[in-house]
Formats: sequence, structure tokens, C-alpha cells
Amino acid sequence: MGENKRATLGGRLSAVLVAAGSAVGLGNIWRFPYIAGENGGGAFLVIYIGCILLLGVPVLLAEFTVGRHTHKNSVGAYRLLSKKWSFLGYNSVISSLLILGFYFVVSGWTLEYFTSSITGAISEYSSSVVNAERFADFTTDPVRPVIFTVIFALLTHVVIALGVQKGIERSSKLMMPILFVMLVVLAIRSITMPNGLEGLKFLFTPDFSKVTAKTFLDAMGQAFFSLSIGLGCMITYSSYFNDKTNLQNTAYNVVILDTLVAVLAGAMIFPAVFSVGIEPTSGPSLVFVTLPSIFNTMTFGSLWSAIFFLLLILAALTSTISLHEVLTVYLNEEWGISRKHAARCVTLVTTLLASASSLSLGVWGDFKICGLNLFDSLDFVTANILLPLGGCLTSIFAGWVLNKQILRDEISDHGRLKARLFGLLVVLLRYVCPTLLLSIFLYNLGLFTL
Ligand code: PFF
Repeated sequence: MGENKRATLGGRLSAVLVAAGSAVGLGNIWRFPYIAGENGGGAFLVIYIGCILLLGVPVLLAEFTVGRHTHKNSVGAYRLLSKKWSFLGYNSVISSLLILGFYFVVSGWTLEYFTSSITGAISEYSSSVVNAERFADFTTDPVRPVIFTVIFALLTHVVIALGVQKGIERSSKLMMPILFVMLVVLAIRSITMPNGLEGLKFLFTPDFSKVTAKTFLDAMGQAFFSLSIGLGCMITYSSYFNDKTNLQNTAYNVVILDTLVAVLAGAMIFPAVFSVGIEPTSGPSLVFVTLPSIFNTMTFGSLWSAIFFLLLILAALTSTISLHEVLTVYLNEEWGISRKHAARCVTLVTTLLASASSLSLGVWGDFKICGLNLFDSLDFVTANILLPLGGCLTSIFAGWVLNKQILRDEISDHGRLKARLFGLLVVLLRYVCPTLLLSIFLYNLGLFTL
């Protein structure tokens, strides 16, 4: 595809909704509440917001600059700016592929829980113990989770095959508002449950006695995963921004929306958890085990459950689309394959990888990489190694290598906007982000302990 034919997104709202679509995902609704639950609730929230401001905003602005300035896929973008740094583009391609390898699997689970809610099958499982067994039986089954993984990958494929404007832009404009409305409705329902306010207190009252050094590291990792940064995903999306898109406002809006969804997800989950007297620290199973048990105690439980899992599906879908797009546009522009074929190749390869990773939770569980099954190793390698490393290198690139004038021009829209905090942005990108991110990276590799 020639450069002049490259798609661009419509207005300001499109840029925000598309980028927020990538950011808002399972990370906000599934991961944030349980990590906050394990790390003292309100105290975690304060630290998390600090990380978003110190790390999230600068790295997001750096990625927007690289993408919008070059109007290219992540590999092409880095190559154009500095040949030596094109490896960062490959980091983005590899990371997106590996993330889809486990993200499609969890997304498939949300689809299964949604269909079980619609058919009413989910209401047969009343206690947490039975729900835990059901979850374990389902996720280790050799057939059913794979089928749902494949269906989810095909759903993603359909949107990508429709193209940037008709597929990605339209679907984000449709799904994001629905997602917000459902989230607000569910949060209100949950807060009005008996004892629900206790849950809100847990989320908003900081208890710093629970904070350890690891809390800071968890918050940093979560902030990165949640904002989809460090992986070139935002480079790819911002390569479709038009020249009038205000990068500063877009970045602030994306950060605000992403954080708001995480907080609302907490405001939806903790009151419900407190109202039935369950500990908020039940870990990753919070959404798939604890919540279905709570829904079963409610009138119209299956309906609430269906709304909740539909919410998760929409959140997951807008994120899988963004990861798929990173790979599709890479094949399209770098290998000269037509967009249609590129999308098919990506769907085929990611579906095979995700199916294998689903099977690794059950029948292929004996196959281990460094002691972890395939599903866990994909999660570990991306979240703990590639993501913080990618983020660290992105900030070094933007702070030290990239021509400052390019950064200033993009951020200030060629002088049309004020770039009041430009000096601060450069200091954060040069010193603060690399240091903090390098520490997560080394910690996750086990090179130091706290
Ligand atoms: N930000 C998404 C979430 O919070 O679930 C996950 C994600 C999407 C991470 C895209 C990275 C990415 F490039």
C-alpha cells in the first residue's frame, strides 16, 4: 500500500476512542481490581495514579510522537527515525504476538462465561467452591476453551479485515460508549448492595501499612500494561492520527478514561465482594470464581452476569484488535503483503499459538519452558520482561536519541499549541522513566529482591 493511500482516523473523538479502546481491556477490569485487592486497596490506587502520571503520560506522548511523525508501522517508524533502533519495532511485533497468545485465551473465557450466563447454565453453580471447580474444569478442558479462543480470534479478524476506518474506528466508536454505560450501571448496582459502601471505603481509603516496595513495582507494571505502552501499539494507532490531532489532549484523555475505567471496575467489584463477606484478596480468580458466586445470590443474577461478561468481551475485543493491527500493518507495509492476506496470516498464527497456550493449561501441561507452562510463560515473558524493557528503551530513545525538535513539533502541533511542560517531559523521559522502568525489569528478572 502506498503511503498516500494510508488510512487516517476521522476527528478528535476517533483518536481518543480508538487509543482508549486499546488501553481499556482485561487489564482494567480483570487485573486491576485483584492487584489492588492484594496490595491494600486505596494505598495501591494512590501509587498507581502516581505511576500513570510519572511514567504513563511521558511514554504515551513519546509513542504518539514516533507514530504520528512517521505515519508508519512500528518497525518502519523506528527505522525511519534511526536505523540502529529498528530493533525496538521488532520488540513491538514480537510482544504483540506473544501477548495475543494468552490474551485470546482469557478473552475466550469471557465469551464462554457470557454464553453460560445467557443460557442460565452459570446459575447452577452457587458456591465459590463449586465455581472454582467449574473454572478449573473448563480451563483445563482440551476442547471447549480452544473453541472459544478461536471464536474470539475470528471476531477480532472480522474487525481488522474491515479496515482501519470501517473496522477499527467504527467499532471503537460503538463499543466504548456501551462499555462505559454498562460499567456505570453495574457499579451503581454493586454499591447499592448491603454493606456495599465498605467496598468503596476499601478502594478509596489509603492504608499505607499494607504497602511494600513490591507494591510500587506491581503498580508500575500494571500502569504500563493498562495503557498499552512499551509495545509500539500506540505507535501503530497514532500513525493513523491526522495532522490536526492534538497529541497532548489525546494522551490526557486516554489516561483519564483508562484510569476511570479501572477505578469504576474497582467500584463495581469491591462493594459486591464486601457485601457477601468475601476477602478482596482472592487473586486472579476474582472475576471468574468470586463474582459468579455473587451474581447467583442476586435477583436476575444471570442477567447481571451476562451484562458483566459482555462488558469484559467488549473491553477485551478493543484491545485484541489493537494488538492484531500492530502485526497486520507490519506485514502489510514491511513485507508488501496485501492487508487482507496479512490479516489472515496474523489470525492463523495467533490462533495456533493461543490454542497451544490454552491446551498448556490442561493436556499439554507437562511441556514446560523454564518451569512454566506455555500460557504462563507467555504472560511472564511479555509482562515481566519485554514490556518494561520496551518501555525503558522507548523513553531512552525519545529522551536521548530522537531529535528534540521533532518531539517539540509533534507535542506542540508545530507551534500551534503551547508545550508548557515540555522541559518536564524531557526530564521524565531522560532520567525518571528509564531508571524506574529498569528497576522493574531487573526486579522481575530476579536480579535483586526487596
Ligand atoms: N491495555 C490492555 C489492557 O489493559 O487489557 C492490554 C494491552 C493491549 C496491552 C495492547 C498491550 C497492548 F499493546
